[in-house]
Amino acid sequence: MAAFEDKVAFVTGAGSGIGREVAVRLAQGGAKIAVSDIDATAGAETVSLIEAAGGAALFVRTDVSKAADVEAAIAAAVDAFGGVHIVVNNAGIGGEAAPTGEYSLDGWHKVININLNGVFYGMRYGIPAILASGGGSIVNVSSVLGLVGWATAPAYVTAKHGVAGLTKTAAIEYAQQGIRVNSVHPGFIATPLLTNAGITEGSDAYAFIAGKHAMNRLGTAEEVTNLIVWLASDEASFVTGSNMTVDGGFTCQ
Ligand code: NAI
Repeated sequence: MAAFEDKVAFVTGAGSGIGREVAVRLAQGGAKIAVSDIDATAGAETVSLIEAAGGAALFVRTDVSKAADVEAAIAAAVDAFGGVHIVVNNAGIGGEAAPTGEYSLDGWHKVININLNGVFYGMRYGIPAILASGGGSIVNVSSVLGLVGWATAPAYVTAKHGVAGLTKTAAIEYAQQGIRVNSVHPGFIATPLLTNAGITEGSDAYAFIAGKHAMNRLGTAEEVTNLIVWLASDEASFVTGSNMTVDGGFTCQ
């Protein structure tokens, strides 16, 4: 697979879970990777994984909730690799769990700042870089909770719905300038985002969540990555403005 030869990819949240898998897979396809994460140790591990497999990667510490961080990280990727063609806005958190009438203001702002504003910043600074590099593809990682509601996750649901709208808008704006923009909407995926919240195999919470999917299981980072990598590639040349599910039948019910 050399679909990404001569391409440069900027992947946020690339220190763990889906983002790490995407970074590794794009590198296997020949892309040079700017590994962006707030966690320097985790980001360095992803760089090591890529380099050990013969790929090229650079760690750029980024808090995606800070516009200046994102701007500097994309500039660092351009400096190191000569351009940016692929941006995967993946960094995100689950946030506080509480009903809307009890949700803390700090909790609300934290999730919106990372999960929605962070995606906007990745596009705000990524789009000029992609235009200057001759075009490319942006993949925003939303969620099934960007398509339907979920009790006790008002901030997450709002941010992820916002990502879907932002995706469609930028897709229209840049369709004729060589940038495709799509979002992916995973069902619940077995990554540290869930395991750190206690949703582990064998628990009641895991069984409850698995049961929301027609396949009665959680997905894997690999399964989500398959879709992201495809959207990033030229194989998806006529696909833009799509909000695509990879959800084991969560939203078809
Ligand atoms: P994860 O927790 O394994 O990885 C998230 C990464 O983002 C971590 O490396 C973390 O350090 C980084 N990060 C957190 N805050 C950051 C910030 N402010 N700036 C930069 N990096 C930051 O999570 P996972 O599951 O891989 O999630 C990736 C994306 O997929 C998120 O946007 C999440 O909302 C979305 N998603 C996850 C699902 C799941 O069930 N795991 C389901 C649907 C969507």
